[in-house]
Amino acid sequence: MYCETDEELLELVERARKYTDQGKVASYIPALERADQNDLSLALYYTDDKCIKAGDVEKKFTLQSVSKVLALALAIMDRGENEVFQKVGMEPTGDPFNSIAKLETQIPAKPLNPMINAGALVVTSMISGTSIHEKLGRLLALVHDMTNNSSIDIDLEVAKSEFETAHLNRSLCYFMKQHGIVEGDVEELIELYTKQCAIQVTCYDLARIGMILANKGTDPKTKRKILPERIATIVKTFMVTCGMYNASGEFAIQVGIPSKSGVSGAILGLVPPSLGIGIYGPALNEKGNSIGGVKLLEMLSQRYDLSIF
Ligand code: DON
Repeated sequence: MYCETDEELLELVERARKYTDQGKVASYIPALERADQNDLSLALYYTDDKCIKAGDVEKKFTLQSVSKVLALALAIMDRGENEVFQKVGMEPTGDPFNSIAKLETQIPAKPLNPMINAGALVVTSMISGTSIHEKLGRLLALVHDMTNNSSIDIDLEVAKSEFETAHLNRSLCYFMKQHGIVEGDVEELIELYTKQCAIQVTCYDLARIGMILANKGTDPKTKRKILPERIATIVKTFMVTCGMYNASGEFAIQVGIPSKSGVSGAILGLVPPSLGIGIYGPALNEKGNSIGGVKLLEMLSQRYDLSIF
């Protein structure tokens, strides 16, 4: 059974909002620190074009790690599955999202999956284009198609703030460049990656992206195939196994909704074949996932029996 009204959702949002005091807004990217700790918003987007939403739904936020799902889809469309997975693995890690540890112990130094920073940086380096501008434009075009919102753009202040402080991501890139996994100029790659992470959306946009993935990559309104079904399947599977970082196993058991989080407090979720979910709640738990967002997904899953398992 699916939720029908904004009022039903609002009750859940207000219950989950009580947990936001227990979380912390990300501060390692200075521009993210100005977010409002108690914000929480939720949108559900169905394939019949119905969208219901509740909470601070007009608030805009950056995709951060949610962008890894979209960059992966684009890189596979550009390079094909074989080439992409020669450079990045398919296995979950039990480590934090920005860990460098496994790169040293794996031979070759190939990141374990595309949802951790090391893997995402490799994936972004494989997006086709002759300039940062062109590559970013192609990623934005995919976002515009999936959201049906061509006004979506980059929050340049957030991008600059991350670019100036992305020392750990630079070290991941240099390490992988040494081992032949990353090619090209590291500063250009960091510029593209930080801009990709700073794509600015609302929970409504996010929910529509989820709905397109739930519907196997096709826009039900226009019948246009935005992503090949196989690529939609690959990214959805990574959302289940690695989407909530080193909390992905527990989340699969407690919630069972394929999801991808970002340090801005964004969570993209979906329930095949017909529902996309967009959440924004910037207060994060100790694993870096939105504390109110995870609570909301737990409640939604229980109340509407949404676990895919
Ligand atoms: O690379 C970073 O550190 C950020 N731009 C994205 C990290 C992120 O969202 C991880 N999420 N939990």
